[in-house]
Amino acid sequence: MSEALKRQAAAMALSEVRHGMRLGLGTGSTARHFVDLLGQRVAEGLEVICVPTSEATARQARELHIPLSDLDILDRLDLTVDGADEIDPALNLIKGAGGALLREKIVAASSDAMIVIADDSKCVAALGGNFPLPIEVNRFGLGATRRSIADILSSYGADTWLKLRGEDAGAPYVTDGGHLILDAFFGRISQPEALSSDLLNIPGVVQHGLFLKMCSKAYVATPNGVEELQPQ
Ligand code: A5P
Repeated sequence: MSEALKRQAAAMALSEVRHGMRLGLGTGSTARHFVDLLGQRVAEGLEVICVPTSEATARQARELHIPLSDLDILDRLDLTVDGADEIDPALNLIKGAGGALLREKIVAASSDAMIVIADDSKCVAALGGNFPLPIEVNRFGLGATRRSIADILSSYGADTWLKLRGEDAGAPYVTDGGHLILDAFFGRISQPEALSSDLLNIPGVVQHGLFLKMCSKAYVATPNGVEELQPQ
C-alpha cells in the first residue's frame, strides 16, 4: 500500500481534531503521517497538547514543535490516533509490530476515543494469522515466562510458536520500557478475551498486543478511497 494512501487515512483522522484537544499520538508508519500532518496544522496555529506513545514519535513531534505533555499531568485525553497490524469487524486490534504496544495501550486506555488509521491489508475477518501477537515481558525470568506463555497457547489448541524479537539479529529487541517482546505466531484467535486475561495472569507478562473494545472508529485506506469503519 502506498504511503499516499496511508496519508489519506491520516488526513481523515486529522479532520476530527479540534482546537484545544488533548491527543494521544500513535507509533508506526501510518501514525507518522498523522503526526506530520498535525505538525503542519500546529504551525498554522492549531493548539493541541499531545502524549506520544514512543520515543520515536516523541522525537518526530518535537522536531515539528508539537506541544507534548504526559499522562501524569493531563490525566485524560480526548482522542488517540494510532495504526494497527490487524483490525477485525468489531474493531478489535492486534498492535505492537513496532514494539510500542505498552505505551500505546496505556495512552489508548486513557483516551475518550481511539481512531485507528491503516490500509485495507490490515482488515481481517478474525484476529490472528497475518501478524504475530506481540507479548511484552520482563527480562527477569524470561525462560519461565516463555514456558508459561507456551503452556497457555497450547491450552487453546493453537499450533503456535514463540520467537524472541531480535534474536536473529544477535541481540534482543528492547522496548522503550526496557522490556523484551515474545512474538506469538498462530492462526485465528478464537477467544481473544480469554486469551488476553490468561496472558495477563502470567507474572512476567507486562502487556500484550490484543486491543479489545478500545477502538471507536477506523479510517481504512483503499485504492478507491478512505472508508470509515465503526465497530460491528
Ligand atoms: C507500533 O507498536 C504498532 O502498534 C503500530 O501501530 C502498528 O504496527 C502499525 O504500524 P504501521 O502503520 O507501520 O503499519
